[in-house]
Parts: sequence; C-alpha cells; structure tokens
Amino acid sequence: MKVLVIGGGGREHCLVYKIKNSSYVDKVFCASGNGGTALLAENVDIQPQDIEGIAKFALREGIDLTVVGPEAPLVEGIVDEFTKRGLKIFGPTKDVAILEGSKVFAKQFMRKYGIPTAEFEIFDDSGKAFSYIERCDFPCVVKADGLAGGKGAIICHNLSQAREAIERIMVKKEFGAAGEKVVVEDFLEGEEASLLAFLDTDTFLPLVTSQDHKPVFDNDQGPNTGGMGAYAPAPLIGDLLFSKIEDKILSPLVKGLKKENKVYKGIIYLGLMIANGEPYVLEFNVRFGDPETQAILPKLKSDLVEVILANIEGRLKNINLVWDQRFCICVVLASGGYPGKYEKGKVINGLESLEKQEDILVFHAGTKKVFDSQTGNTFFVTNGGRVLNIVGLDSDFRKAQEKVYSAIKKVYFEGMHYRRDIGNKGLKFLS
Ligand code: AMP
Ligand code: GLY
Repeated sequence: MKVLVIGGGGREHCLVYKIKNSSYVDKVFCASGNGGTALLAENVDIQPQDIEGIAKFALREGIDLTVVGPEAPLVEGIVDEFTKRGLKIFGPTKDVAILEGSKVFAKQFMRKYGIPTAEFEIFDDSGKAFSYIERCDFPCVVKADGLAGGKGAIICHNLSQAREAIERIMVKKEFGAAGEKVVVEDFLEGEEASLLAFLDTDTFLPLVTSQDHKPVFDNDQGPNTGGMGAYAPAPLIGDLLFSKIEDKILSPLVKGLKKENKVYKGIIYLGLMIANGEPYVLEFNVRFGDPETQAILPKLKSDLVEVILANIEGRLKNINLVWDQRFCICVVLASGGYPGKYEKGKVINGLESLEKQEDILVFHAGTKKVFDSQTGNTFFVTNGGRVLNIVGLDSDFRKAQEKVYSAIKKVYFEGMHYRRDIGNKGLKFLS
C-alpha cells in the first residue's frame, strides 16, 4: 500500500514511523512533513489546508490510504472530499468533526446525552455575555466557539478578566469568526488527562490513557503551549475511573451519535478533567493528540494500519489492541521564546548519538533537513516552536524518566528549552 500522512509535527512523524512499520505498507508520503519524516517518507510540499491539492496528489500518486493529523482539514471536510473522489481516508466527516470545530455544538451535545462536563451558558451576543459574567462565580472559563489554535479557552479569576476575555473574543475578534459565539463555563478543579479511542457507529476501542503538559514551564507555570510533554499510561486513571470514562462518556457518545444518525469513523480524543474521582469532558478533539500520540503509539504492538483499515471498514469490534506494558515518556524540546516569538534555522546538534540508543526514540516536529553541498553532509535545523520530541520507555516509571532526561543532555540547539518535570505528576500515583 501507499499511505499519505497529512501534517508536519511530532504527531505526524510518530504516525509515519508506525505506518512505515506496518506489514501492509510499501511507501509512505507526508504532506508537508518535517526533517524527521523526510528520513522515513517522501515529503510532499503541499500544506494540510490545501484539500484540493492533496486530493489531486493522492489521485495522481495512487494513494491507497490517507491518515490526517491536524484538526483544520478534518473540520473543513477533507474526509468528505476524499470519499467523494473514491479515495480511502481515515478520520471523521465534517458533520461530526464539528465536535472539535464548535465548542457550542460539543457542549450542547454533551448536555443532550448526559455526558459529564462543566455547567455552561452560550452567548452569541457580547452584551448578554457581559451581563451574565456580572452574576457568575469565579473562576470561570470563557471559550471561543471555533478553532483557535489551542488559545481560545481563557481562565478568568475575576470579573475584569472575564470582561477582557469576552472583549478579546467577541469584540476585538482576536480569533476571527471562531469568536462569534462564546461558551462561559464553570471552572473545574482537578487533574487533567487524555483518552483517545477509535470510534465507530456501534463501538469504541480505547487506546491507553495519557497526560499532556500544556503550560510552558515546570509545575504548570507560564502560558499554554501546544503541549510540552506527555506520558502513557497515566497512573491517575485506575481501573475504576477507566470504566467510568467508558460508561459515562464513550458509551453515551456512541449512542448519541447513532441517535442523531451520524456516522463517526476515526479517533476521538477526550480532554478530561478528573475532579473528585469523576471524569468530566473539557473538550473533544477529532484526531490524534500532540504530544500524546508520541507517548502512546510507541507502546502499540498491533499493526496501526490494520486497526485503521478495520475502523474504516466497520470491523473495529474484531480488533484487540496489544500493548507494550512499559511506561512511555515524551519530552518536547522547544525553540527559545516559544510559545511567543522565536527564531528558526538553529543547527541541531547531537541527534546522531541517540540513533542507536536503546529504549529512546526521537520524533521531529519543527525541523528541516539541510544538505550541505560543500561537505556532502545532511544536518537538521530548527523550523518551528516545538522542535523535537524525545521519548523514553521503561517498565519502571522513574527509569523511563531518567532515560529520557539523560538522552536530552546529548542534544543541543541555541535557545533550546524544555520542561524538567514531565512525569512527576504520574509519580505521585505510584508508590
Ligand atoms: P479546552 O480547549 O477546552 O480543552 O481548554 C484548554 C485548557 O483550559 C484545558 O486543557 C484546561 O487546562 C483548561 N480548561 C478548560 N476548561 C476548563 C474548565 N472548565 N475548568 C478548568 N480548566 C479548564
Ligand atoms: N495535546 C493537546 C492536543 O492535541 O490538542
């Protein structure tokens, strides 16, 4: 098979790595890819938003299966477009990708089908939103309805912060049309975790649990990022909590979609808050998480392409996922200044020393492969905010953490920074 992966981050390098290892696959392409995918796949210079361009490429190249990484093309309807043209693609169609594309839709769906989530109100009029926050309790969370690159949820500790959030979203339109409506919801105190599952009309197949680290600095300080690290499984979620997530969230989700006559085929990502031993949905994503995927898929022993094909063809019920039982920890190395302004083009040193290191994997994110015509050598330079994902595996959580952090010591680029506490949250649940 020829498989095309869409996207260019750490998640996509990890997807390419798993797909390349599939017994079904002869060749992998990645649009537009990064320095790491260039080592395993043929990078294609087409951006993920260019649905028409990607579809034309897939037809021309005779692509047998396309796997979509980021949310934007899914929300824009890439799966519908590909299906119309007879191309096989993995991901949800536009009518259900709205679970991520509209927080208003997702919250109303959860209310309708009794899925636990923070209490909320919806506003399409800034005046009404301003007057509502005069009487709401703090902290509260103000969220732009549409896609806002992970920046559209603003935690407000007092009235003036809430006013500013509504001003930014609805009046100044900082997130454009995504801010035409807002959700104002109760703040939930607890610990966050993620659960990804393959989803089909009658069934769901969960992957292992994981935990992302969104704030840029240790101990969850500083502004939010795309994710500075993750580990899997998340010891926070024991068997009891896992069954609650299946019974209170995944089952009603499948039933609700069926009741609405909607067919969802693909990954559903539950962004969860665990509060007082109960799971609540903070958000749905309709795709693999980044960086969760880099901590989850290295543990998957099953052939990913076989599972994806089973999901597309309605055979998910027959699939049993087989897992490496070790803990997997992923730490993100970021450019100086990220998540604010940063420079690109810094030479990355030391990656070759990790190539053969046992239990260590490297997934590139914002990197570019450069050919030096004078020496005939290739090397990598930084090309984005999140640059590299260093991943370590061990059956002992603490050892996995030690392995990954000692591997990081061998890598360097100017301005590089990373969190030094990825895994600490998990440790407290392991005695
Ligand atoms: P979202 O885009 O809805 O997942 O929100 C982004 C981040 O904001 C989450 O990962 C949480 O850290 C935080 N957040 C969102 N909603 C809530 C809530 N109701 N209570 C507490 N924190 C929240
Ligand atoms: N790790 C957060 C996300 O993928 O949205």
